Amino acid sequence: MKEPVRVGIIGCGAISGNYLKNAQNLPILDIVACADLIPEAAKTRAEEYGIPKVCTVEELLADDSIAIVLNLTIPRAHAPIALQAIASGKHTYAEKPFALRREEGEKILKTAKEKGVLVGCAPDTFMGAGIQTARKVIDDGLIGEPVSFTAFMMGRGCEAWHPNPEFYYEPGGGPMFDMGPYYLTALLNLLGPVKRLSGLAAIAIPERTITSEAKYGKMIHVTTPDHLCGSIEFVNGAVGTIITSFATMHATYDGQFPITIYGDEGTLRVPDPNGFDGSVQIRHAGDEDWVDVPHAFVPGYGRSVGVADMAYAIRSRRAHRANGEQAFAVLDAMQGFLESSDTGRCVTPATSYQRPAPMPAELPFGELDE
Ligand SMILES: NC(=O)c1ccc[n+]([C@@H]2O[C@H](COP(=O)([O-])OP(=O)(O)OC[C@H]3O[C@@H](n4cnc5c(N)ncnc54)[C@H](O)[C@@H]3O)[C@@H](O)[C@H]2O)c1
Repeated sequence: MKEPVRVGIIGCGAISGNYLKNAQNLPILDIVACADLIPEAAKTRAEEYGIPKVCTVEELLADDSIAIVLNLTIPRAHAPIALQAIASGKHTYAEKPFALRREEGEKILKTAKEKGVLVGCAPDTFMGAGIQTARKVIDDGLIGEPVSFTAFMMGRGCEAWHPNPEFYYEPGGGPMFDMGPYYLTALLNLLGPVKRLSGLAAIAIPERTITSEAKYGKMIHVTTPDHLCGSIEFVNGAVGTIITSFATMHATYDGQFPITIYGDEGTLRVPDPNGFDGSVQIRHAGDEDWVDVPHAFVPGYGRSVGVADMAYAIRSRRAHRANGEQAFAVLDAMQGFLESSDTGRCVTPATSYQRPAPMPAELPFGELDE
């Protein structure tokens, strides 16, 4: 085993525990420091997971021994921290969304290229056995030519469970910027680049009351759409619909398979793209029922595998999968839906998109391709 890659975490809130737990199974990652605007939050995580150094954001960025900044802050801090990390000569990997606006995303990619550092971004769920298997089914032609898709993420929002839900209802949040990255990243990996898209968005529930514990009773004034219906035409010809909503309840689609891909020879049920290992099902014209497709990739990964993949890429100089260009394509589409809703016109992508390599199927859990 070669030396692990040293990682510093900025942002020690709810999702950081999930990363730290999963990183324990990925020997390439060595989490050596953590920082948060709230020092107590960083201290708590450090104690929980044995992180040797608790410091300020500035101290973490100044630590030359750290190669990757793992940015787990809230959406509006993603781009500013990414730019600070790049300026400090560090590779950076952020939680989704990549940024709030295309201009921020473009600036991150440009400055990283100039500095010669890598940029990565969640989600990495598309690297799980579920979406990878679904991709292989399509690539192997098992449903024929893709014709259409449906993708539904329809719920009532986050104020009943998240301790600090305000950011979900401000620009950079909303169901498209919050959950859209899972769905759009999966769709890009399954169907390839987008040709054009359109959207209709609404603020359906403008005032919300927090009912989770710490902030119980606090009102949230919603400043970004909480319901969005989009249409996408892919370059491969598939045309379909995505709905993301924080304003609906009891949605009737099968929650186990929120994405369906329709081909001219069969239909594919794709598991929840907010998870890693859901099951995949296929059905052809003559089939009486859905047939389970065995996973063709290694199961068991969780959030952190995208950073681990980037750490391998740093060492071997190969391309990494949850990369900034893919995250930018997702951001471009999300912003495009909102613009289309405002203008009534279709939007074409700002850049080209190339799917990342499939995951290695032959390596054991915890080990990625060099
Ligand atoms: N909570 C989840 O279930 C979940 C799941 C997947 C992804 N995410 C994503 O992870 C990110 C963080 O979400 P969360 O739920 O952990 O939020 P959170 O509010 O629980 O934690 C965010 C932390 O970042 C810190 N922070 C904010 N701005 C900062 C800055 N400028 N410098 C240093 N620290 C800063 C906050 O003090 C807080 O401790 C979001 O982008 C969210 O979309 C969350």
